[in-house]
Amino acid sequence: MEETAHFGSRQVPLGQKQGLVDDVFRSVARRYDLMNDLMSFGLHRAWKDALVTAVNPPKSRPFALLDIAGGTGDVALRVIAAGGAETRATVCDINADMLAVGRERASARSPSLPASASEGEMKRRIAFIEANAEALPFEAKSFDAATVAFGIRNVPRIDRALAEAFRVLKIGGRFLCLEFSAVDVPGLDRLYETYSRNVIPALGRWVVGDMESYRYLVESIRRFPKPQAFAEMLRKAGFARVSFRPMSGGIVMLHSGWRL
Ligand SMILES: C[S@@+](CC[C@H](N)C(=O)[O-])C[C@H]1O[C@@H](n2cnc3c(N)ncnc32)[C@H](O)[C@@H]1O
Repeated sequence: MEETAHFGSRQVPLGQKQGLVDDVFRSVARRYDLMNDLMSFGLHRAWKDALVTAVNPPKSRPFALLDIAGGTGDVALRVIAAGGAETRATVCDINADMLAVGRERASARSPSLPASASEGEMKRRIAFIEANAEALPFEAKSFDAATVAFGIRNVPRIDRALAEAFRVLKIGGRFLCLEFSAVDVPGLDRLYETYSRNVIPALGRWVVGDMESYRYLVESIRRFPKPQAFAEMLRKAGFARVSFRPMSGGIVMLHSGWRL
């Protein structure tokens, strides 16, 4: 029997999920960053800052980050801003439209970048690569840290993506993953449910002209494995010292694992 995958509330043949996900991000790419600010009331910045703090890029030695499903480069630019002159980032994403927005952001030298970073230097420090998280075009043991922010739930074969993240990390490297989760604060859970079911798709229609894509994004959060189950997937992929930490009442979870 043919394998299937969740695509929002629908069950689709596994081989079709990626194409449907690509349509979503092609549609939202230009307004993606604005929508993140609107939907989360700017909170996604704090969640990403917590991720960057955990990455902890050094100030005075070389450091190579791989940001998987890195989209418009938001996390990579923040890591570069936090690290030293030898911090480099590779943004890998399957969607050319999201990467195109990221390249523009990097060359426009967003205010989050160090004032010292000239355009030429930014090109040296950040690369945008179109690739599938399930088959990364990088050598084994080549990155100090690998991150995924709000990306893993979109990947059809999550186990393959985790195995690939493990493969490309150096020994001693850390994997960090931000993903939405289930709210576990009484009262807030119902508020969040109402907000995500009604307000987010309406915002999507208003700002992007696309309600369905935001319905998918909300539904895909609901279908994502619970933190314990995802932690188990990390262990299966080979990661050690696996942990997770809730943020904002459980709206978001920061998962961590090490290649030891
Ligand atoms: C919600 S966005 C997150 C973007 C970015 N990490 C951020 O936090 O702003 C999800 C991203 O996952 C990417 N994606 C989906 N499937 C992928 C895959 N198989 N391999 C690589 N990227 C993928 C999409 O193209 C999209 O850019």
